[in-house]
Amino acid sequence: MESAVELKDSDINEQSYQGLLQELLIARDAAWMGGGELARQKHVDRGRLLVRDRIEMLLDEGSPFLEIGELAGEGLYEGVAPGAGIVTGVGLIQGRACMVIANDPTVKGGTYFGMTCKKHVRAQRFAWQHRLPCVTLVDSGGAFLPDQANIFPDEGLFGSIFHNQVGMSAEGIAQIAVVLGACTAGGAYIPALCDEIVIVRGKGFMFLGGPQLVQAATGEVVDAESLGGAEMHGRISGVTDHIAEDDGHALAIARRLVGELPPMPAPLRERVPTQAPLRPISDVYQLVSANTKKPTPTREVLNCLLDGSALSEFKAEYGPTLITGFARIGGWQVGVLANDGVLFTESAIKATHFIDLCCKRDIPLLFLADVSGFMVGMQAEQGGIAKAGARFITAMSAAKVPKFTVITGGSYGAGNLAMCGRAFQPNAMFMWPNGRAAIMGPDQAATTLAMVKRQNLSAKGLAWSQDEEEAFKAPIRQQYEAFASARNFARHLWVDGILDPAETRDALSLLLDLAARVPTEMTRFGVFRM
Ligand code: COA
Repeated sequence: MESAVELKDSDINEQSYQGLLQELLIARDAAWMGGGELARQKHVDRGRLLVRDRIEMLLDEGSPFLEIGELAGEGLYEGVAPGAGIVTGVGLIQGRACMVIANDPTVKGGTYFGMTCKKHVRAQRFAWQHRLPCVTLVDSGGAFLPDQANIFPDEGLFGSIFHNQVGMSAEGIAQIAVVLGACTAGGAYIPALCDEIVIVRGKGFMFLGGPQLVQAATGEVVDAESLGGAEMHGRISGVTDHIAEDDGHALAIARRLVGELPPMPAPLRERVPTQAPLRPISDVYQLVSANTKKPTPTREVLNCLLDGSALSEFKAEYGPTLITGFARIGGWQVGVLANDGVLFTESAIKATHFIDLCCKRDIPLLFLADVSGFMVGMQAEQGGIAKAGARFITAMSAAKVPKFTVITGGSYGAGNLAMCGRAFQPNAMFMWPNGRAAIMGPDQAATTLAMVKRQNLSAKGLAWSQDEEEAFKAPIRQQYEAFASARNFARHLWVDGILDPAETRDALSLLLDLAARVPTEMTRFGVFRM
């Protein structure tokens, strides 16, 4: 009888997960289409390659391409595809990991929306942290003018792209640009601030103002070629360094330039031969509970994720709602912190101790977040959960070892933060399609706000019926559910993307390889509240 019930649950879970994966596939297809069929055709008819084809040609055959912000901007700008008109990700060029940043000119002429800026900047930060050369395929009309408030005035926007280029170049992190289309204003400064520029004859242009703007501003009538074409920049202004005959030739030159860089640093951590988990990763679809009120069995999920399903557990009997231990993914050692229930004082103390161990041994931290938060109530407060939680956050925040976060389930409140939320700048942060994150769950938010309202009304001597209360709560629940979804987090770039559980090991293995090539700074913890 019991196993029949289990089987039914796993079937429901699997069915629900396949639905989520289907939705993810559709969103990814939309991102791949860029500006849609008409814009793609117009672009191809001009003898140019589409952005994904450019990237494929730039990368080594069979290279992985780990995208950052694949679905950023989805639904935020009317008619603009997921991705916000730019493709960013890590791939191999001449065997060397590089950050590729490529405008999609089929999306509003490759212009920059607020989210395009944010995504470009995020890709740069990842590149900087891992000291990856940046190869930027520029084909952009600069700022998307109606969105200036989200592009122009603040840090983290267009100006930060330049600031990061300068900073990376100063640290010897190569900046290579390939000018493949008409690059105007900010779109021209991006290549201009690179170490080396390739430009395509007859197709690539760089100017601070295009021919129409020049005519309007000064009355000068000039064609695009004379104003900013490859011949002019290659022979007269000296703005560009290499002239290519077409897109393919330009990308071949960019590959050659990467090949001429000093060698890629060797890994500073040991990698042993990788082992597949003993349990297939596809079992995760059956394990992740479709009913969000029912916990997912974390230990079983770990068996699907870790090399040889092997976890050398630390303090297994203490604070068991947080599983901590040493494991390997793709042959790289990691210190795993995985939630298995609400966080108690003991779990927080254990996390602090474990993070300290990993810092002393230079072991990267992998946070697998599925947590409703820290325990509340008098007993928890008397047990000092506030100071234990603060110690956990201090240790996690100060740790200088590489940190990676995957939200594998619900991730709420301070629990989300303690499990290395975005604010703590993990090297990379992904979410599974079933992942959810918010300050609190939909029911809790609706109940809290309803309690406040009821108190206010009763203070004024007013009545509030059950029906009225329910009508008040329903939209709050809905709003919280929509906010918490993985798609919403990916769209706002609050995570680097959504990973199918089946992609997670490969992604982490690549990330751990990149992180292993950068020396770890020494960790200095802040004051621990005892
Ligand atoms: N801001 C807002 N929208 C812009 C834009 C900008 N800077 N540049 C282009 N667009 C829009 C166009 O209105 C068009 O929108 P639609 O598809 O809704 O009609 C779309 O992007 C594609 O532009 P289009 O001119 O049809 O494509 P193209 O491939 O022939 O040319 C550019 C692309 C970028 C070369 C050209 O549009 C251009 O020169 N734009 C002005 C660039 C500029 O002066 N930027 C200054 C920023 S400070």
